Amino acid sequence: MADVPSLMQVIAVQQPGKSSTLVMEQQPVPKPAAGQLLIQVKAAGVNRADLMQRQGHYPAPPGESDILGLEVAGIVVQVGSQADEKWLGSEVFGIVAGGGYAQYALLQTSHAINKPATWSWEQAGAAAETFLTAYQLLFMLGNVQPGYKVLLHAGASGVGSSAIQLATLAGATVAVTVGQPEKAAACLQLGADIAVNYRQRRFADELAARWPAGADIILDPVAGAYIEDNVKVLAVDGVIIVYALMGGRMIEHFDMAPLFKKRGQLICSTLRNRSNEYKATLTARFSNDFKAHMQDGRLSPLVYESHRWEKTQDAHNVMISNINIGKLVLTF
Ligand SMILES: NC(=O)c1ccc[n+]([C@@H]2O[C@H](COP(=O)([O-])OP(=O)(O)OC[C@H]3O[C@@H](n4cnc5c(N)ncnc54)[C@H](OP(=O)(O)O)[C@@H]3O)[C@@H](O)[C@H]2O)c1
Repeated sequence: MADVPSLMQVIAVQQPGKSSTLVMEQQPVPKPAAGQLLIQVKAAGVNRADLMQRQGHYPAPPGESDILGLEVAGIVVQVGSQADEKWLGSEVFGIVAGGGYAQYALLQTSHAINKPATWSWEQAGAAAETFLTAYQLLFMLGNVQPGYKVLLHAGASGVGSSAIQLATLAGATVAVTVGQPEKAAACLQLGADIAVNYRQRRFADELAARWPAGADIILDPVAGAYIEDNVKVLAVDGVIIVYALMGGRMIEHFDMAPLFKKRGQLICSTLRNRSNEYKATLTARFSNDFKAHMQDGRLSPLVYESHRWEKTQDAHNVMISNINIGKLVLTF
């Protein structure tokens, strides 16, 4: 068994709130219980939720680590039970409900995925949260099929860039909305057929012309005023899946009738607060369906920038400025 120290450095939130700051702090290395692995973290992804948690708006679920960080990649250095000893020394990645911004993190054994040899540590650290979210939304909730038309808002975001890859590998045709021409180019490069810059053109107008029968699945982290236009471009029997409320939680004077006439579904989804069993099933289904694509590199996390973890604040500032195309990741 690897030599594991009793103390580790973590990135801690000094004072949650608008002016919150991140500081390096010493904490005990957590001990894996049965069914858990202790990971020496090589890379940890940065997600929007980390910014919200830092500001005091998105606390960790009860019983989970309150250290920021929802995904890690690293080496298994301890296991909680004999049954898991085969994992010792393995290079893995996976989602954690908290605790990623640290030198060591606990990962449920059933949430561990072997790191593909074609991926760097940065890519593996930036993969789990957004690929599993995108997989869940497209495959488990949206039931994507070859030939489906899929509209992804915030196409160049972490989730968006992951969803473009998964949807196109599944044989769907993809349209995205983005706020910058560089983001449009990146999404087309990843496999999207249509990229609408919403600052130049209303997406509902563009899609009504390009996809007259509408979109079968719409993944929307914006919500607010987007919902009405989503309904306009939704296909009959289509599904709108809202997975964040970046554009606002209220829809003023929303008329249900157009959605009703299309027999449309409006689903809201979260990942972090789902059970470990659900996440294990999600992890297993994703790994099984995309193992070959991970290994041959056709599925590959798009990393925008990696930052040394001592500079976590810089990575957060990049994300706040909305310039990242793909993922931001911390290296240890
Ligand atoms: N429910 C779940 O299971 C789940 C899981 C993971 C993430 N999330 C949530 O999904 C959202 C996206 O996460 P991410 O990590 O992929 O984000 P990200 O990489 O930080 O990208 C977010 C992008 O969304 C666009 N955006 C931001 N504010 C917007 C607004 N008000 N209106 C329109 N577009 C806006 C910006 O791109 P443009 O320049 O193109 O506008 C921005 O760069 C976050 O809110 C996150 O918390 C939810």
